[in-house]
Formats: sequence, structure tokens, C-alpha cells
Amino acid sequence: MAVSDKMKIFAEKSSWIRKMFEEGAKMKAAHGAGSVFDFSLGNPDAPPPPEFNRVIQQIVRDTSPGVHAYMPNGGYPWVREAIAARMSIEQEMTIGQGDMVMTCGAAGGLNIVMKALLDPGDEVLILAPYFVEYGFYIDNHGGVSRTVATDDEFNLDLPAIEAALSDKTKAIIINSPNNPCGQIYSQESLAALGKLLEHASEKLGTTIYMISDEPYRKIVFDGYEVPSIFTAYTNSIVVSSYSKDLSLPGERIGYLAVHPEIEDKPQLLNALTLANRILGFVNAPALMQRVVAELQDVCVDTSIYARRKEIICSVLRDAGFTFTEPKGAFYVFPKTPLADDVKFVALLQEEKILTVPGIGFGSPGHMRIAFCVPEDVIARSAEGFKRAVDKAHSL
Ligand SMILES: Cc1ncc(COP(=O)(O)O)c(C=O)c1O
Repeated sequence: MAVSDKMKIFAEKSSWIRKMFEEGAKMKAAHGAGSVFDFSLGNPDAPPPPEFNRVIQQIVRDTSPGVHAYMPNGGYPWVREAIAARMSIEQEMTIGQGDMVMTCGAAGGLNIVMKALLDPGDEVLILAPYFVEYGFYIDNHGGVSRTVATDDEFNLDLPAIEAALSDKTKAIIINSPNNPCGQIYSQESLAALGKLLEHASEKLGTTIYMISDEPYRKIVFDGYEVPSIFTAYTNSIVVSSYSKDLSLPGERIGYLAVHPEIEDKPQLLNALTLANRILGFVNAPALMQRVVAELQDVCVDTSIYARRKEIICSVLRDAGFTFTEPKGAFYVFPKTPLADDVKFVALLQEEKILTVPGIGFGSPGHMRIAFCVPEDVIARSAEGFKRAVDKAHSL
């Protein structure tokens, strides 16, 4: 067998979303796509904004020499400048183009951060429920992930984080708005986390980095805002992309910014840029860099997701689920009426409703519902959710 033992194990570990995807494909073939309620995939379905279509058509006409050539591995300086100007407002401090690296999506960004920071055996804290891929990204670069729980409403649990810190801890990844639970961490809790990391770094004689993965920053509901990370902690790195806020996940365009006063900044930026090159990304796609530079104040119509959030929350409330209402992103993470989330997800499947068990996100007893599906699909799923809850109660 050509495949490494490690990849065989990884394939098994990553099987929840894949399994639901395969089940969904089978069900759609058997019953028709219209009668399956597929909440399993976080594929943003709001269309890219009209400004994107206008700008890409203009830019693609440019035939100047070099527009498709290699470039600095960190990306076009003027594109970084445009993003840095917008981020300076969000992060409430001046960020320069030299603080940034253009990346192949947030996933590419997280991988280059791990490559730049980790020595074998270094630990990275991830907070449950977490984005499933973090564990793989950390392992890709020799690190070890350590899971820390959040509280009942998925807020930061600072004593639990403190207890998990050691001289092996190199970084903590936070994700807000969160996939899979839609939580946004408050400014106060981020400031408290910053203080905690500062004291711990001092006490342990190390530097612990805060990595904020925030591709959903602009997808927020009910007037919530995502606070600045840089004002909370100096040794921080923000990683983001246009996959969700411009609905361009297939185009693989993202970026990262380091805090303007981060420790050993020149060395860190050199390492990040080199990692972009030697991991084989080389640089973020040229055409997309030129396009997104023009779209800094543009976002998908978030009211689409806000309406869906309202509908799914009312469906879940009516069926008797306990859940924390999402403040952003397009996921909700209710408790399952059975402690065995896999078993409850199977009951939903009998109703042709596809969700992903919480165990896949490090939080059993829950399930993830991705509500980036049409409103009528959400509304029509209501009876199925109720029947599955009734069945669970009668077991
Ligand atoms: C929390 C989180 N981080 C990172 C990513 C990866 O995003 P990208 O497509 O920009 O690589 C995703 C994608 O779903 C995500 O949900």
C-alpha cells in the first residue's frame, strides 16, 4: 500500500464531514436533491457581490507585461498596502504593508504560520469546539495540538487555558466568529486572554503567540462586532481570507498580518514569506490579489445569512433544542437531545436531514448545522427536526 500509515489514520479521523458528504450524495441520488436537507457543508452559497464581477472583468483585460509573472513571495506590496489600510481601522492601530503576507486562503495562512513557528513537539492550544483542520495543520509542521474546552456558551474559559499552558506551548489558535458555533469572543475576554498569555510567557520564559483565524469577521448578526486582536495582545497574528466574505473559497485568496510590534518581527516575516515559498504556495494567486485590492469595503449580502439564522433558530426552538444563538458565521451548534450525538445525527438522517456530529469538532453531545442553504430548505426541515427529537425522547 502506497499511502503512509499516518495518512490512513488522518483519513479515518477526518471522516465525519466526508461521511456525511457521501451519505448526502447517496440520499440525493436515491430521493432527489430537493427532498434532502443537507446542512453538512460550510460552503458559502451567497453569490459574490456584483462589485466582484465588475472588478474581475476589468482586471482580466489587463495585458501589461508581467501581470501573470512571479512576484515577491509575500505578495504585491500595493495589494498588501490596500489591505493594511482597512485592517488598520479594524485593529485600531497602523499596520504597514510590510506587516502582511498574501496567502492561499486562511488555510494556506495558518500552515505558513505553523511552519514558521513550530519546532517538533511544540504545543498549540485549540479551543473546542474547533475547526477540524487545525489538528492537521499543526501536525503538518511537527506540532502537537492540545484541546481546551470553552464554557457552556462557548466563551473563553481562561482558567482552563491557563491550566493547559506549559513551557512547550508555542501558540493558541482562536477563531471568532467561530466555526462551528458562531460565537464571537468579547473585547474583555480577549484582553484577559492577552494578559494571561503575557504573564505566562514571562513566567515560563517563552513567547506564546495568539493566532486569530478570522475568515468570518465580516459575517456578523444583530449588530455584533469582532473586536481588535492586536489591541489585546502584542505577540499576535491575524489570519483571514476572502473565502466567506466575498464567497470566493475556490479562488484560494487570503492574507495574514502580524502585530506591528510583534517580537523579532523581521525574522518572523522572513520565515513566513519563506514558508509561503517552500510549502509550494510560492505566492497567492496574482489575479485574485489584484481583484481583492479593489474590494476592501465590499462584502457579500450578510442579510442573506442573518435571515437564515433567524429561520434555523426558530426551527430549533420549536423542536425543543438547547443552543446558543450564533453571533456570526453561518453555523449553529445545538446540544443533541441524546448524549450520543452520532446516534442522534443518525435519527436526523432517517428524516433526510444531514448534520455533523459534535464529536468531529471536539465537542460530543452537540451537532453542527451549516445554514448556508436556501431559506425554503431550512423551513421545510422543521417537521423532520421535530420528529427526530420525538424519536430520541421515546428511546
Ligand atoms: C474557521 C475556519 N478557518 C479557516 C478556514 C479555511 O478558509 P480558506 O478557504 O480561506 O482557506 C475555514 C473554512 O471553512 C474555516 O471555517
